[in-house]
Amino acid sequence: MRTGLIKHSQYMDFLRSVPSFQSLPEDILSKLADVLEETHYSDCDYIIRQGATGDTFFIISEGQVKVSQQDSPGDEQVIVKTLAKGDWFGEQALKGEDVRTASVTAVGDVTCLVIDRELFKQLIGGLDDVNNKQYDSDEVKANVQAEADFFSR
Ligand code: CMP
Repeated sequence: MRTGLIKHSQYMDFLRSVPSFQSLPEDILSKLADVLEETHYSDCDYIIRQGATGDTFFIISEGQVKVSQQDSPGDEQVIVKTLAKGDWFGEQALKGEDVRTASVTAVGDVTCLVIDRELFKQLIGGLDDVNNKQYDSDEVKANVQAEADFFSR
């Protein structure tokens, strides 16, 4: 069913407020508002599991999520980032390898706007911000930390 008019304009307003989407033309924003699926999560729900295959992209429209990673199965989960309203995630599995690089869990009630691989490719995939997003690897983080420790001595 087509998104209702009021919902559609709410989605448009929200999408316009996401910094990475600001260069998207109105017709693309409107298409996005048409096709996205609103999904709801409760505290501690897994939205994404590291290692699973995935083909969806998420934009947080309410609440907060924790991004965590483990080096190998059985290892400790390390929280690498907290994301909030207006942040997006899930893009890594949509470029090339379709494996999720981290787990994402809800902190309290969370609402996400979800877009599937095909529509992501058509509507968002061209954005440099999203396409070129890279996260520091553990090695880089360790080096940065070592350097910071060195200079704080
Ligand atoms: P994806 O690998 O599809 O699923 C997990 C998502 O978590 C990933 O896409 C990124 O959007 C996000 N993510 C992975 N690593 C980090 C990190 N170090 N910091 C912030 N977000 C990350």
